[in-house]
Amino acid sequence: MKHFITILLAMYIISLGASAQQSYVPTEENLANRKEFQDMKFGVFIHWGIYSMMADGEWIMNNKNLNYEEYALLAQGFYPSEFSAAKWVSDVKASGAKYICITSRHHDGFSMFGTKQSPYNIVDATPFKRDVIKELAEECHKQDIKLHFYYSLLDWSRDDYFPIGRTGRGVGRTQNGEWETYHSFMLNQLTELLTNYGEIGAIWFDGMWDQPEDFDWKIREIYDHIHAIQPGCLIINNHHLAPIEGEDGQTFEKDLPGQNQSGYSSTATVGQLPLETCETMNRTWGYSITDKDYKSEKELIHYLIKAAGNNANLLMNVGPRPNGEFPDIAIERYNAIGKWLKEYGETIYETRGGFIAPRDWGVTTQKDNKLYVHILNLKDDFLYLPIIDKDIISVKRFIDEKPIQYIPADKGVLINLSEVPDEIDYVLEIDLL
Ligand code: GLC
Repeated sequence: MKHFITILLAMYIISLGASAQQSYVPTEENLANRKEFQDMKFGVFIHWGIYSMMADGEWIMNNKNLNYEEYALLAQGFYPSEFSAAKWVSDVKASGAKYICITSRHHDGFSMFGTKQSPYNIVDATPFKRDVIKELAEECHKQDIKLHFYYSLLDWSRDDYFPIGRTGRGVGRTQNGEWETYHSFMLNQLTELLTNYGEIGAIWFDGMWDQPEDFDWKIREIYDHIHAIQPGCLIINNHHLAPIEGEDGQTFEKDLPGQNQSGYSSTATVGQLPLETCETMNRTWGYSITDKDYKSEKELIHYLIKAAGNNANLLMNVGPRPNGEFPDIAIERYNAIGKWLKEYGETIYETRGGFIAPRDWGVTTQKDNKLYVHILNLKDDFLYLPIIDKDIISVKRFIDEKPIQYIPADKGVLINLSEVPDEIDYVLEIDLL
């Protein structure tokens, strides 16, 4: 009997431990950062690595089954002679973006920062020898841009990324390492990323989809490790699932929250955390010499507006060339977004998705008692808006405050838009009581 009680007690203590592990309580600072993250609305994603030299995207090692040892030799030729962190951050600022998320280590396993955990990094393995992440971090802190680190959980070059995942099977890795070593390697690298580069806005994980769903990544240990070093740092994971305990934001790959046009988001139920959508300007993340299929300025701006109307941030990617420059066309597109945001930023920054859900004609955003109606695609002369239980003080054209006529309709109002010009985004500002 005594024995039995001891077992029960032990089980109780273990279950306490488990449930204690389950409840992550974000700090005040973390909560404030989540709000700030939502307020920023627009970020620039940067995919850059030694793969850029092959000019065919960041998956080339996997796609062409390149031998991992041969691939690693690319590092010896990596010398991005035009790299300038100051220029990058200025280009980002010109786009109106408020944060940068950069690949610190992608699936190929090459670290773009000076790490003591492996010689396979930009400082030790390239003739360039500069820690570009350090230079970027300093410039971001100087120019008041938040810095987020993309970090791949999967690795196509290490023997201890074992069991081998769904991808990178043809690169010739020997499969004899221990997961434990890989896990500690990641923890140690994260310690470096969170101690050597000042305040980090977020760690953005990717690659969890490489292993079967029941695989134990010991992810909570990784999350807790991050929060122990920088409690305010947000954790976002591109796992394509509903949020996991310990995370602070939810990202969607090439889809608005709740949609699944990309095919990645079938199991990504929308949760309660701050939302983000990441998208490419052309079709590839890493630099591609052949992919000229850039979205138009209008399409990109519409995507930003739609993300805001869906209560999400937009993280818009650029794949810098191997010499370290952003492609000209990417700079042009960022400038166009920045120009639009200069005029219309008030209807995007610091807003949340409006109380009228996204429609075929566009979306709404909201800040305090102002509702911004973004008309992106109007086919009719009249726009019906379901504004119920709220008194309207005025309806104006946002850009010049010209009063707009509206008439009460069944459970809402009708707005005459027969004169609406074909603009990128025709914005109405509705002041509510
Ligand atoms: C995918 C790709 C990866 C890219 C990421 C960005 O997960 O594997 O290459 O970095 O999407 O969202």
